[in-house]
Amino acid sequence: MPAAHAETHVTQAKGHERIETSNGLMIALILVVVAVGGMVEIVPLFFQRSTTQPVAGLQPYTALQLAGRDVYLREGCYNCHSQMIRSLQSETLRYGHYSVGGESVYDHPFQWGSKRTGPDLARVGGKYSDEWHRIHLSSPRDLVPESNMAAYPWLANNLVDPAVMPTKLKAMKTLGVPYTQADIDGAAEAVKGKSDLDALVAYLQVLGTNLK
Ligand code: HEC
Repeated sequence: MPAAHAETHVTQAKGHERIETSNGLMIALILVVVAVGGMVEIVPLFFQRSTTQPVAGLQPYTALQLAGRDVYLREGCYNCHSQMIRSLQSETLRYGHYSVGGESVYDHPFQWGSKRTGPDLARVGGKYSDEWHRIHLSSPRDLVPESNMAAYPWLANNLVDPAVMPTKLKAMKTLGVPYTQADIDGAAEAVKGKSDLDALVAYLQVLGTNLK
């Protein structure tokens, strides 16, 4: 008798069928599987040299570049620009060598991101002249008529505050960036008279140039 047979089948569900027919059990076990899978992917990264050690020759940002990085954060450039080239041919053909973890160990916080209204900037350093960047940042459409990038004309008129620079370098040192006492002592002098635009251009020009 088929009906009776089906009934026994349901009441005596065993093994995998028991999991599939119980919402609570299914949710709990999915969470366990995802947690284990996540740990297997993430935990080894903490111990791999290639993700925790700087690439050979990685230089900490100079005081001026660090000030420029803060302008980049303040102005929200990351809302339209990522700084991570993926290891896909379409990306490496366009932007150059894919990004490696050891390039951003002195970046606190790193700017990898994934939002790309504009192009990735991980290797923009050296791609254009300083002058190109100055014009582009003040008025993008003067150089790229179809650009929908925001304009930042005020950057040229704002001066970097030298007084806060030693503290900024010290904070980075606490986070593991190898600044020397001489770097910290000279930080204020290094940005004296420089505008936010000078600093931002200095920062952009060093991006991605450490990987040899
Ligand atoms: C509203 C989105 C948006 C914001 C915000 C934005 N950009 Fe852009 N950016 C673009 C777009 C789109 C392009 C491509 C067109 C162009 O070159 O203007 C671009 C291009 C660039 C380029 C040239 C990249 C290349 O390889 O040709 C640089 C450098 C750049 N942006 C820097 C910045 C900086 C620095 C900031 C913050 C001060 C910023 N952008 C903010 C959208 C944006």
